[in-house]
Amino acid sequence: MSAVVVVGAQWGDEGKGKVIDFLAEQADVVVRHQGGNNAGHTVVVNDQEFKLHLVPSGILYPDTVCVIANGVVIDPKVLLGELDYLTKRGVDVSRLKISSKAHLVMPYHAILDAVNEDRRGDQKIGTTLRGIGPAYMDKAARVGLRVGDLLHPEEFRDRLSRVLKEKNHLLSSAYGAEPFDFDEMYQSFLDYGRALAPYVADTSIIINQAIDRGERVLFEGAQGTMLDIDHGTYPFVTSSHPSAGGAAIGAGVGPTKIDRVYGVAKAYTTRVGDGPFPTELLDEVGHDIRERGHEYGTTTGRPRRVGWLDAVVLRHAVRINGLSGLAVTRLDVLDGIESLKIATAYEYQGERLEEFPDSAWAFRDATPVYETMPGWDESIGMVRRFEDLPENAQRYLRRIEDVVGVPVVLVSVGRERSHTIPLEELF
Ligand code: GDP
Ligand code: IMO
Ligand code: MG
Repeated sequence: MSAVVVVGAQWGDEGKGKVIDFLAEQADVVVRHQGGNNAGHTVVVNDQEFKLHLVPSGILYPDTVCVIANGVVIDPKVLLGELDYLTKRGVDVSRLKISSKAHLVMPYHAILDAVNEDRRGDQKIGTTLRGIGPAYMDKAARVGLRVGDLLHPEEFRDRLSRVLKEKNHLLSSAYGAEPFDFDEMYQSFLDYGRALAPYVADTSIIINQAIDRGERVLFEGAQGTMLDIDHGTYPFVTSSHPSAGGAAIGAGVGPTKIDRVYGVAKAYTTRVGDGPFPTELLDEVGHDIRERGHEYGTTTGRPRRVGWLDAVVLRHAVRINGLSGLAVTRLDVLDGIESLKIATAYEYQGERLEEFPDSAWAFRDATPVYETMPGWDESIGMVRRFEDLPENAQRYLRRIEDVVGVPVVLVSVGRERSHTIPLEELF
């Protein structure tokens, strides 16, 4: 197996960072291909916690090449801050490669993100306010600025001055916001360009050559399938393609080169931000899971909404991504809960729905049809073999396989790299 894609199967924060870090031990190259610093991926090694927003979660291994590919939107100030943070903690970042085609998140994008959210009123998305949506809007509108532009000061001056004129006009006339100073922005972005220049490359060539040499390439999805701009809970989604197809476009790799796709799912469900969430728990049990699981956002610190596992959502993720298997994380968080529920279907207007509804309104108003299973009392954090899990935990995982339709290939029982039970060879 040479090229493996790992995606979020729910609404993000499934534990992709942890799973990628675990798999990266065997990888030669780890690639981020979409999203931006709306992502927050946590990796814990020997009690040391690393929070990564743009740098791939393979960076902690000394020989792994890490790529930020063309589909990512990069806030250069945030990226340089992250490289500095990693360097100070003893991590060598010299193997990082950054696509010249990746778009830049500019200071006006964050302002526009906030203004847009404000104007949405009670229909707000609950974005991370990192400017991600407006950066992808400019990319699609063909007025985006790219990493490679920073290496051509004269051309960059010309493009930035045209774009900034437009943005300043919009900000001051429509929103009454302060316009940005051109010279200040130009100079600071030239500085960012100089600092990033050693890392900039044609990353599609690097990735394809690695695949052709038979090296192991791991694609690290950000966000999750339900936040996909086409296949998620639109309009309460992000502005990129977190589903597996996004890896091909976002890295410049043909779909025929991808061997396997794994989905990461929590043993329950969380969502941060607004939008429908049929299995949401607004009671004591939800509160309890949030507190024992420290369910607070890695990027924004917001409390995550918590609910039961939703197999309808997971079957949707299997279909949209062509999942080969599921990595189930945070099983330990369910320790000691007397009975567990899995939504296996929805009910909507008197009808039973087996598939994720095509209509956003049906999804909003659907009620889950639950199956209840007994929980377990033991603490499972120290378990390293599937057979050593409590019987009811094994049954829960087997039932997930039955109702979702793909095998569970990895189980995570804690935050540490070592708290992992692989059930088969993933590469
Ligand atoms: P990502 O965005 O998908 O990479 O996930 P985040 O890092 O934002 O959130 C997942 C959180 O769960 C992080 O704090 C991880 O350290 C933690 N985590 C991952 N796997 C497990 C697990 O199996 N058990 C527990 N208790 N925590 C986990
Ligand atoms: P990782 O990679 C969870 C959510 C936001 C909001 C919506 C749109 O850590 O799993 P955006 O700022 O992207 O325009 O916000 O998407 N969101 C995430 N939720 N995990 C993430 O990333 C997310 N990135 C964005 O909360 O609902
Ligand atoms: Mg996260």
